[in-house]
Amino acid sequence: MVSIDYINEYIRNTIKKNTGILLELEDFAKENHVPIIHPEVAALLKVITLSHKPSNVLEIGTAIGYSSILLSSFLEPGGKIDTIDRYELMLERAKENIKKANVEHTINIIQGDALEVIKCINKQYDMIFLDAAKGQYPEFLPECLRLLKNGGLLISDNVLYKGMIANDTLVVRRKRTIVNRLRIYLDEICSTDELETSIIPIGDGVAISYKK
Ligand SMILES: C[S@@+](CC[C@H](N)C(=O)[O-])C[C@H]1O[C@@H](n2cnc3c(N)ncnc32)[C@H](O)[C@@H]1O
Repeated sequence: MVSIDYINEYIRNTIKKNTGILLELEDFAKENHVPIIHPEVAALLKVITLSHKPSNVLEIGTAIGYSSILLSSFLEPGGKIDTIDRYELMLERAKENIKKANVEHTINIIQGDALEVIKCINKQYDMIFLDAAKGQYPEFLPECLRLLKNGGLLISDNVLYKGMIANDTLVVRRKRTIVNRLRIYLDEICSTDELETSIIPIGDGVAISYKK
C-alpha cells in the first residue's frame, strides 16, 4: 500500500463494499494470499469501466478471476474480456469462479505466457488492464500500445510498488531489478506522445493512460 494508513482506512471504510461472489473471492484471496486488486483500486476500475463503457477488454494477469468478474458487470452489452495467465492452478480456480458468477460467455481465459500470447493477438481493445509480472511491464508496453484502440485506456496496477519507486531508501535489494524496470515503464508511459498518463497513489499505485 502506498497511501498513508489512516487515509487508506478511511477510503476502505467509506467506499461501497462488494457482495456475493466478489466478496467471497476477496475473503478467499485474503486467506490464501492471492494478490488481487485492492478494494480502492476495484472501486476506481468500476468507475472507469462504467464511464468508458468498453466493449473489448484485455486483462494481463487473471489470478482467480476476481478483477475480470468485477469488470464484466460494467461492459457495453455484449462486451468481452480476454484474460491471460500462465499459472494453471490459478486458472482452474478462475474458471470455477467465472462459471459460478455466470459470466463464462463474457470472459475468455487464455493460458500462456502473456508476452508470447499478446504478440499473437491481432485484435483491438478499448481497455487493457495490466496486472502481471511487474518486471515485464516495459516489454508488455509496445504490444499493449499496438493492441489498444485510439481513445482506449491502459490501466497499469502496482506501478508505485510499495513506495519503492518513489523512494530509494525503501528499495530492498532483491527487488532492485523490478524497481528499475517499473521506473523505466513509468517514464515511458509518461513521456510517449501516444499516451496521456495519470499516476494515482491508491492501492499499490495505479497508472491510467489514455491513447490519443
Ligand atoms: C496480481 S495477480 C492478478 C490479479 C488479478 N488481476 C485480480 O486482481 O483479480 C498476477 C497474475 O499474473 C500472472 N502472471 C504474471 N506474469 C505473467 C506472465 N508473464 N504471463 C502470464 N501470466 C502472468 C500470475 O500468474 C498471477 O496470477
